[in-house]
This record gives sequence, C-alpha cells and structure tokens, in this order.
Amino acid sequence: MSSKVLIVDDEPTALTTLEAILSGEGYQLEYAASGKIALEKAEQLLPDLILLDVMMPGMNGFEVCRRLRATPKLAEVPIIILTALDDRSSRLQGIEAGADDFLIKPVDRQELQLRVRTILRLDRYRTLSNQRENLRKMAEHVVNAQEQERKRLSRELHDDLGQALIAHMLRLQNLRATTPPRVEDLHRELDDLIADTNQTINKMRQLAQDIRPTMLDTLGLKTTLQNHCREYSIRTGLPVTLEIDEKLSELSDIYSIILYRFLQETLTNVIKHSKANHVWVELTLDEEEITLTVQDNGKGFTMDDSHTAKGIGLMGLRERLLLVGGNLVITSAPSKGTIISAHLPVNEKSTREQV
Ligand SMILES: Nc1ncnc2c1ncn2[C@@H]1O[C@H](COP(=O)(O)OP(=O)(O)OP(=O)(O)O)[C@@H](O)[C@H]1O
Ligand SMILES: [Mg+2]
Repeated sequence: MSSKVLIVDDEPTALTTLEAILSGEGYQLEYAASGKIALEKAEQLLPDLILLDVMMPGMNGFEVCRRLRATPKLAEVPIIILTALDDRSSRLQGIEAGADDFLIKPVDRQELQLRVRTILRLDRYRTLSNQRENLRKMAEHVVNAQEQERKRLSRELHDDLGQALIAHMLRLQNLRATTPPRVEDLHRELDDLIADTNQTINKMRQLAQDIRPTMLDTLGLKTTLQNHCREYSIRTGLPVTLEIDEKLSELSDIYSIILYRFLQETLTNVIKHSKANHVWVELTLDEEEITLTVQDNGKGFTMDDSHTAKGIGLMGLRERLLLVGGNLVITSAPSKGTIISAHLPVNEKSTREQV
C-alpha cells in the first residue's frame, strides 16, 4: 500500500510545485488549501506524513500542528513544516507546536524527496516494531497460560494419580504379607482394588483428554463438540442446547483445537461463575466467518469484573483467536446473562489440508 502524504498550502503555485516534486515517488498525494480543511482531511485520511506551510490566512501552520498533535489518532503522524522564515524563533515555535522537521521555502527538489523518503521509512519501521512488540507480549501470555496448564497437569499427576497408585501398591503389599488370607477377605480386597483401578483409569483418560482431545483426530470436531456438551450436561446437571451448522466440514487442526478449547473454557466459566440454569451453544458458518457462541442465562458480569479477576481463561482464548486473525466478543451485563463468541475468518488456514 502506498504512503499517503497530505500537502497543506494556501498558494496554488506552491501546491503544484510540491506535487511535481513528489509525483514520481509512488505516494498517494492529497491536498488541503487551508488549516481548517487540513484538520478535517487529516482526520478522515489518517495520512502517513503531513507537509505543512506556515504562512496561511486564518489558522497558521503552527496552530494546525498543535491541533493535530492534540487529536489522539493524529498525535503520532510525522509533520514537516515548510517555512520561508529561516530563523531561530520560527524553528522554536515549530518544535513547540510538535513538528518533526523543517524545510525552507522554496524547497530544494532532492532535499524534499530525501526527507520525505527517510521520514516515511522511519515511520514504517516504528509501526513494524510496535507490531512486533504486541506479538511478543501475546507470545508471552500464551507461554504463561501454557505454563499454568502444565503446573495443573503436573499437580494432578502427582497428587491424584501418583497417590492412587501408591495406595494400590500398599494394599497389594499388605495382601501379600497376610498369608494365608481367608478366601472371602481376599475376594473383597480384590474387588475393592478393581473398583479403585477403574477409577484411576478414568482419571487418567480424562487427563489425557485434557492434554490433547484425541477425539478431535479420530471423530472430528462436530462429534467432539457434541460429546463435550453431553458429558458436561451429565456432570453438571445443566441442560445444554447445541446447534451446529450443517455446512460445517472438517476444519484445520488449529481451528478445531481453538474452537474446542473455547467451548471447554466458556462452559467451565458458566458452571464456575454464572449460576445459570440453561446454556445454548451454537456454531454458525458463512462465507467469511466461523462463529461459535456460548450463551447462558446466569448472573452476567461487567468488563471490570473480568479485568480485576485473576483468571487467565478468557485472556488465553483471546490470544489464541488473535493468532489466527480471529476475535472474541463478550456481551454481558449483571443479571442479564452472558454471550461469548469466537469469530474465526474463513481462509486457507481454516480448512483441513488434504494429504
Ligand atoms: N459465564 C459467565 N458468567 C458470569 N461471569 C463470568 C462468566 N464468564 C466469565 N465470567 C467472569 O469473568 C472473569 C474472567 O474469566 P476467566 O475465565 O478469564 O477467569 P476465571 O474463570 O476466573 O479463571 P481461570 O479461567 O483462569 O480458571 C471471571 O472471574 C468471572 O468474574
Ligand atoms: Mg475461566
């Protein structure tokens, strides 16, 4: 995309000269013949650079510059002031008004071209490094969320499964030590052990499923979502109405896992926070977007609650979605229930690769 340069000058000949100098450089040139028009155009166009004449009737260049800097979305736009007055006091005024650079009129062709190129390059670099910083922050959040999840799994492995296996071993050792046991006692003890072993196997399955829902690979997204809702309903006693668009075909791994994690987290939130007595889950699909929505009729919350909360569930979801260009939309208000939806763009990343 070419850079937008807004040229502000009240003299038509000056405008034509500047246009002639910059026209071969591949920029999108825009013009304003007064300070007032410049402010309006700048807000509307959000230019990448503004060339601003000082001597204009009505509002002079310094004033325009000050007002641009006071407008939040224009506060960072590079501004070059064009002035016929090469004196210290005009420069000071320009700096004070927030200009980034000065050029003396009549402008030298090469000098203007070079300054504009340099400023635009620097600005692009700044935008890129801002984007990079945002990505870095996002990656940090994701890594933190992963670390929390690992801690939880390690705790469960240690406290739950580890303890269960140790108890098994002690009971087996006990049995071995009490010889000869009475047959009835031996049977009772073995039955107990079998029941405990079954419980441990179930816990392990649940844990393995949490780490990576194998069902996604074997049975696909639709069945996995249906199963999750059914099991959730049995476990919590909360009725879930699930509707999945018939057009849904298999999605890529990354999309499937994001949607599954979204459902897991939002349904867990419903039972943890909402006191709802019904949940609706809907997956819709159009040419541009896949949307998964979870709605409850519980107590709702305000954005302040979610910001002051220590939880990382919603933040993790938001970051996962951002990674694929999607977004999370929350609509909730106290005692009005909550609607949370994940929007994912349909593109080459969304469909399963054919092997
Ligand atoms: N369905 C809901 N109904 C009412 N409040 C909700 C609901 N979902 C989220 N919240 C509010 O938003 C907050 C943030 O949710 P989030 O999932 O990020 O964290 P958490 O569930 O508290 O902790 P974590 O997910 O890390 O275990 C919650 O603490 C709760 O106050
Ligand atoms: Mg949560």
